[in-house]
Amino acid sequence: MKPLVAPSLLSANFANLQADMDMLNRSDCDWLHLDIMDGVFVPNISFGFPVLKYVAQLTRKPLDVHLMIVRPEKFIAEVKALGAYTMNVHYEACVHLHRVVQQIREAGMKAGVTLNPSTPVEMLTDIIEDVDLVMLMSVNPGFGGQKFIPRTLDRVERLRKLIDESGSRALIEIDGGVNRETGRRLVDAGADVLVAGSAVFKAADPVAEIRALKDL
Ligand code: DX5
Ligand code: ZN
Repeated sequence: MKPLVAPSLLSANFANLQADMDMLNRSDCDWLHLDIMDGVFVPNISFGFPVLKYVAQLTRKPLDVHLMIVRPEKFIAEVKALGAYTMNVHYEACVHLHRVVQQIREAGMKAGVTLNPSTPVEMLTDIIEDVDLVMLMSVNPGFGGQKFIPRTLDRVERLRKLIDESGSRALIEIDGGVNRETGRRLVDAGADVLVAGSAVFKAADPVAEIRALKDL
């Protein structure tokens, strides 16, 4: 199965977002991945809704929103107002994850749950049938351009088994350090969606790089 590819805006040129949005609109990418940080859940701050409102107007791609913030349920209405396709919340940031997942679905979005590298995939056993997407962080969240954590491959295989055995239809998305080489191994392990920030935006030809990731 060919993966879906979701370039991450975090590595774009914020002084000329229009150019990067035009490039992505021309490309074969499937989703646009948006990383929202609060400086509390992760040691960095990225961009917020006032910026994303304009990004949403410039893109033709479905928005894949990744909230690296505490209490993400406070922002379900704002994410919905962007026109988001998916809303990904961190397992580690939600005390009442089941309720948050229900609220995201009730708002009409796909509910994604994201796991930090140290959270076992088995923690999702009792909610796997209720989620549309599981995103595994293959770096510690907060920054683009970090090195892929190889242990992720084993995590993808275990998550694939958990999903298939439960009858869940959740997609497996991977975020962090994805390039052609790690992407190939992730797809072989059972990943469905690849997020790629620096691999796309630092490439000499980003449109060709997106094509190459989709053709893995
Ligand atoms: C990191 C973000 C990622 C980041 C990935 O916390 O969640 O989406 O943009 O960047 P790369 O692909 O450069 O590792
Ligand atoms: Zn992300």
